[in-house]
Amino acid sequence: MPDFLTSSTHIHITTWVLALVLFFVAVSMAPTAKGRKITHMILRLMYVLIIITGGLLFAKSLDFGQGMLYGFKLISGLGVIAFMEMVLVRGQKGKSTKGMWIGLIICLVAVLYLGFHLQMGFKFF
Ligand code: HEM
Repeated sequence: MPDFLTSSTHIHITTWVLALVLFFVAVSMAPTAKGRKITHMILRLMYVLIIITGGLLFAKSLDFGQGMLYGFKLISGLGVIAFMEMVLVRGQKGKSTKGMWIGLIICLVAVLYLGFHLQMGFKFF
């Protein structure tokens, strides 16, 4: 396993911070804007990097004997990605995004709490 990816949580943090910024930039643009399409494409690349870096941290966490909390962390992280994607796609199609925003906020609160509670990296909670 590449050590620089799992010796700290910094690369994982970088990927999801960039994703959140790209998401808010994309969502603030008009649904038909060309810039929104491009930003959304870069955001999708960040999804892959979040899943790779998070997945490697998850593999490392299997030794810690806290499988359930790490499982919730993984699921809520995937939830954040899924809801960001659905807000953008439904918004583009002119469909209601209210439920997707609620899902996004719930998953984001859960993932930040669990991430900053669990053992690796920062421990704010
Ligand atoms: C946008 C989605 C995500 C956000 C906002 C997020 C957020 C975070 C945060 C805040 C931390 C704590 C960093 C630290 O304490 O230094 C973290 C760590 C971690 N993340 Fe994510 N994450 C996301 C997606 C994922 C995904 C998809 C996975 C799994 C495939 C994952 C697995 C992990 C693991 C295993 C850790 C280490 C937890 C620890 O022991 O502190 N994350 N993430």
